[in-house]
Amino acid sequence: MTAVREIEIGQLCLGMYVHKLGTSWLDHPFVRSSFLLETQEDLRKIQDIGIRTVWIDESKGLTLDESTAVAEVDAPEEWPVELAAPVEEEAQQGGKERSLAPTSMMVELEHARAFCLAAKEEVKQLFADLRMGKTVTEASVIPLVEEISASISRNQAALISVARLKTHDDYTYLHSVAVCGLMLALAKQLGLDDMQTKKAGVGGLMHDFGKAFMPLDVLNKPGKLTDDEFAIMKQHPVEGARALQQSGASAEAVDIALHHHEKISGLGYPHGLKGNEITLLARMGAVCDVYDAVTSVRAYKEPWDPAMAMHQMAQWQGHFDTSIFNAFVKSVGIYPVGSLVRLASNRLAVVTEPGKHSLLSPIVRVFHSLTSQQDIHVETVDLGAPSCRDSIVARMDPAVVGGRNLNAYWQ
Ligand SMILES: [Fe+2]
Repeated sequence: MTAVREIEIGQLCLGMYVHKLGTSWLDHPFVRSSFLLETQEDLRKIQDIGIRTVWIDESKGLTLDESTAVAEVDAPEEWPVELAAPVEEEAQQGGKERSLAPTSMMVELEHARAFCLAAKEEVKQLFADLRMGKTVTEASVIPLVEEISASISRNQAALISVARLKTHDDYTYLHSVAVCGLMLALAKQLGLDDMQTKKAGVGGLMHDFGKAFMPLDVLNKPGKLTDDEFAIMKQHPVEGARALQQSGASAEAVDIALHHHEKISGLGYPHGLKGNEITLLARMGAVCDVYDAVTSVRAYKEPWDPAMAMHQMAQWQGHFDTSIFNAFVKSVGIYPVGSLVRLASNRLAVVTEPGKHSLLSPIVRVFHSLTSQQDIHVETVDLGAPSCRDSIVARMDPAVVGGRNLNAYWQ
């Protein structure tokens, strides 16, 4: 017998488990669609959505009958923490619920690796559907965006770092996942509200859907494109926007697909929009798209070191909105995970985790002495720890350590 029942909004109270809000994920302000209602603030947010009814799961929280008893005593401002237990228990058991509690880098990396493997196949299928002329709606990507959003909420760096690592063949699919994660993190950094943040994530996931309509021999060409081929590829924003519009996607998703290759200078495509003619979400898309592209393996080039990518992108005049780029640096780091750096102690290290207090003091794995020109015992150093006397003095070109797999130090 199901424990899910529909109740009037006026009957909803703290301690109930919201099963479904009766509106699209994009139209309500919560990261999850199912959750234990614990605070007055969340209750008010639900009341403000403007829906008439809500579905609750009485097996996971307060029942409608029990709520009557609660109403007879003073309602607490915050619901007791112990009532959150069923949700966490289910998450630990690998159930469908998604915990948003912070996780360590190590724990979230494991989750992100498994998720990215599955997400790659899902996005691949979406592209295949588009090529077959099928409609791909926003609703079909929302479960993926919800997962990415939950991972970013738990640990901002893990999924973004894992999604950066991709083979040439997987590029288009994992690029969608990476840009979605970067957009969500950037939206949070910019202080966008929950609805805009979700739209940024959905738009990020769908931004390159137009590539599904590009000739496969051009899309997958193992080398640099000729001018003619590049002219063909420049059609993908228009093709993507057309497909999204036909599927009934939000104006924001269509806009991100259409304008993520515009530049502040007006020298981008397809419309050569300038400055504020480009919407905030499309300007965000431009930064996230380029960062993931230049730090990924491509058929015609080695990936840039993440810190080098930040440095290079900062030099490009007229490409990005400066304030958005600065927020992006704050969200991903001056020395993102995987960056090769030289320390004041004349040792080489790879960044493994963002700093807890400062962008300049991440956690690193030290592995080589430039003084002795020899590898040394690998150790983890938290450059932000009060007792730490070492610091980053420069980012380094990975070429200095030859073909060494630097990702092994943080993975
Ligand atoms: Fe694109």
